Amino acid sequence: MEKIVALCKRRGFIFQNSEIYGGQNGFWDYGPLGTELKRNVRDSWYHDMVAAHNELVAPESAPSKYQMVGVETSLIMHPQVWKCSGHYDLFHDMMVDCRETKSRFRLDQIRCRTVRFEGETVKQDGTEATLDRVMVTSTAEDFEQDLTDQALKAFGKKKKYADRLQWEGDVSTLDKVDVEQFANVVAPGATKAGTLTAPREFNLMMKTIIGALGTDDDAAFLRPETAQGIFVNFKNVVDSSRVKLPFGICQVGKSFRNEITPRNFTFRSREFEQMEIEFFCRPDESAGWYKYWRDRRYQWYLDLGVSQDRLILRDHHAEELAHYSVGTADIEYAFPFLDEGEFGELEGVAHRGDFDLRSHMEGKLARNADGDLAVELNDDGKPKHRGSGKDLTYFDDQAKERFLPHVIEPSAGADRATLAFICEAYHEDQQPDEKGKMQERVVMQFHPRLAPVKAAVFPLIKKEGMPEKAAEVFGALKAAGLSCQYDQQGAIGRRYRRQDEIGTPYCITIDGDTMQDDTVTIRDRDSLEQTRISVQDVVAEVTGRLGSV
Ligand code: GAP
Repeated sequence: MEKIVALCKRRGFIFQNSEIYGGQNGFWDYGPLGTELKRNVRDSWYHDMVAAHNELVAPESAPSKYQMVGVETSLIMHPQVWKCSGHYDLFHDMMVDCRETKSRFRLDQIRCRTVRFEGETVKQDGTEATLDRVMVTSTAEDFEQDLTDQALKAFGKKKKYADRLQWEGDVSTLDKVDVEQFANVVAPGATKAGTLTAPREFNLMMKTIIGALGTDDDAAFLRPETAQGIFVNFKNVVDSSRVKLPFGICQVGKSFRNEITPRNFTFRSREFEQMEIEFFCRPDESAGWYKYWRDRRYQWYLDLGVSQDRLILRDHHAEELAHYSVGTADIEYAFPFLDEGEFGELEGVAHRGDFDLRSHMEGKLARNADGDLAVELNDDGKPKHRGSGKDLTYFDDQAKERFLPHVIEPSAGADRATLAFICEAYHEDQQPDEKGKMQERVVMQFHPRLAPVKAAVFPLIKKEGMPEKAAEVFGALKAAGLSCQYDQQGAIGRRYRRQDEIGTPYCITIDGDTMQDDTVTIRDRDSLEQTRISVQDVVAEVTGRLGSV
């Protein structure tokens, strides 16, 4: 992962945000190549899901034909939206602070394990008492080693005594530990036990103020998901665009979450981009559509070059399901910053039932004592959060029925997908240079649709008319709308390696023969095969090769 992060900075894929001021944790900037790459990810998604979708023909695995349309809604919405969606009451993480190190942690991200060291005790914070067993904690990736180091430190022992530590139980996470036991807990990086505060809820929505008065009444939230912009416009879209069930409304855009511990490069950021589909269907057809989208979205990553052994489709257990969800599956990728066998979420595909439309119509829903979803009431019998009161039902003019559609939601992260494509693309191999000597090569094997630069053009030498001819070829490729680079610096092998490192699929070289017979070589990044083609065929050849993948 360190090599990938270094390459991203060195070649201008991803930079730390506000780096010259020391950076802003949880925010990232995309450089010139990262911008092209992420745009290709977004464009591929929109093209494959919406623009190229043929609403007249049912895809083979789909229950029927369907329509797809897009919307672009604002980052800030009416505060009532978040009350009805559940984000106001429920969108929080539990966090704890350490009084000793002044650090803040997400409770479920602290690993912990109880330990003793025969006859030795550990000081407790703020009391005279000592403890003969403590719970040590870690937020490090290599948490097992970190727990051992912390245990030795807590008991004041040198490394050589590690095998005399007496561990009790398995490694767990602190959210599973009773708060009564916190007096025994040595916080990550702390030296004494009992320095953690009691856990507190922390709402992840980012607050902002609208207007000049700046009172609390003017508080609003930056959207934590793009989905709600779709739900509140459901009626507008139905009334204005003549869509008929089943159909999907899609949106690509920024979302914001005040993550307590942003981490793992862009994987968990505070500002990120989502690519969401809310697919509306008849309730009695929703199970079939759930299966369709779950499989369709998994296949999308495979089609763009993610290998099957690093990508899983994982169904949620009942206790993992969000409050509204009837079923959810995650598409997860084996990111290199995770332990062997662990996967990180790229996308969730959720069956949301009619939760969102009904909440926005009637008031926020919650499960009642019988386990059914019903409008949540205050003690006075009034809705806890009132809905819009607008009729959001759909009239099916074939079945002559009025009902609330059910929703299947494939919700993907554009930054996480981009990071997965970067991790997947990274390869190291050895290739001979001009003198036949083997050289290390880093090659980003991006799928050609995603590659930030599609072709590079090189004049072999800077004279004999080659730069002029190369500029002509470069101009023709640019005029065809292809992202290209022109490079006349250094030995040709070095130029190839520079392009391999950013994943350019095709390199075109103008050489002595070009000046004789108007042909160039085109070299393939992965097969390394070089073919001679005529100058006038270059654009068609490159677009043809790109179009055939
Ligand atoms: N509307 C449903 C929804 O927002 P989610 O699982 O919370 O569901 C969907 O988010 C996707 O958005 C995730 O699978 C992930 O790809 C992306 N995402 C969520 N939080 C993120 C974060 N803090 N940083 C980067 N991407 C994030």
